[in-house]
Amino acid sequence: MAEIRIGMVGYAFMGKAHSNAWRQVSHFFPGVGQPRLQSICGRTRAAVERAAAELGWASVETDWRKLVTRDDIDVVDIVTPGDSHAEIAIAAARAGKHVICEKPLGNNASEARAMVEAVDKAGVRNMVLFNYRRVPAISFAKQLIEEDRLGRIFHFRAQYLQDWIVDPKFPRLWRLDKTVAGSGALGDLGAHIVDLAHFLVGQVEAVTAQTQTMIPERPLPGKPEQLAPVTVDDSAQFLGKVGATTAAFEVSRLATGRKNCLMLEINGSKGSLRFNLERLNELEFYDRTQPERLQGWNNILVTQKDQPYITHWWPDGHILGYEHSFVHAMADFLASLQGNQPVRPDFKDGLACNAVLDAVEASAQSGAWAKVAL
Ligand SMILES: NC(=O)c1ccc[n+]([C@@H]2O[C@H](COP(=O)([O-])OP(=O)(O)OC[C@H]3O[C@@H](n4cnc5c(N)ncnc54)[C@H](O)[C@@H]3O)[C@@H](O)[C@H]2O)c1
Repeated sequence: MAEIRIGMVGYAFMGKAHSNAWRQVSHFFPGVGQPRLQSICGRTRAAVERAAAELGWASVETDWRKLVTRDDIDVVDIVTPGDSHAEIAIAAARAGKHVICEKPLGNNASEARAMVEAVDKAGVRNMVLFNYRRVPAISFAKQLIEEDRLGRIFHFRAQYLQDWIVDPKFPRLWRLDKTVAGSGALGDLGAHIVDLAHFLVGQVEAVTAQTQTMIPERPLPGKPEQLAPVTVDDSAQFLGKVGATTAAFEVSRLATGRKNCLMLEINGSKGSLRFNLERLNELEFYDRTQPERLQGWNNILVTQKDQPYITHWWPDGHILGYEHSFVHAMADFLASLQGNQPVRPDFKDGLACNAVLDAVEASAQSGAWAKVAL
């Protein structure tokens, strides 16, 4: 079986999720190729050596420029904050490597566009890690929509809510600094639900939006008495147009009691779908084509063998978790390398999302509708 040598830049939250996926994928998806966890990169040698030992990587680098030009690397996997995505991905593509990049693809659409140009010019495979497309219940929702079980889609509605910065003493980490993160809840959480709108109902074409920074100053990490400005949004709400479908989005890091709550509802002329990431094995389906006296919300446990990805795991009813969405993403990526086929979501999908995020910020500033410039 073909060995695919991976080089990963970054090793914290997503570094752990991606490492786990690379380690697991060939055991559950035999035939897609054998990833080798060849080298992991971080800026501090002792820390990256510790990460390599914990996560199962064969070697370390402390400069990503070295990693992306190594002859023994086939795929560069980027799990750093947004300010370094474009530079690393473009250098990797120029060095002829296939590239996987965490979301949002760039910190704005112009960075994402340069990344698309680089991978197109180099002719390398590319994927942006919108992993929620590969939660089986979401892939199943896509199948139901493609089978026309919802009919004409009137409404798409999504919220992505967390509460980890409710305490004003929570430090101003990189995610709260625009120069590093690009934006706040918008790019972090909004990117996912915009991508799901694109996956399930179509491209958002225009938006009207508002954003808020409700806690404008926070202590610097490790310096509780020194306050620094928060330069990103804490929360955002926006309405979008997807052809004749309306789309409503809300994101917040101040939604007390909501830990990682991504909720979707889609309403069509023949039926509706509902999903909540905190119960990710379930998809609710309302089938309006049933006799009226039988109509109601059905809660489908998406763990049956004729549902997406499930045959690779356990017998019916044995539930899956968050980490499986990353394994599925890596399996599809490796399969695309084996079959020499494109894989989605690719960098163009990443750009489509960044363009919506830019339009949200423009509308929030101007107070007017903003067109999404693709
Ligand atoms: N797909 C998802 O569900 C999901 C979830 C969380 C985060 N993310 C995305 O993943 C990316 C990383 O987020 P995270 O939560 O893992 O962050 P993190 O802070 O946990 O980890 C960032 C890592 O990048 C490393 N790093 C930063 N700059 C670097 C550089 N110049 N060279 C080498 N290493 C560098 C840090 O040392 C650290 O290991 C972000 O783009 C974020 O939006 C995606």
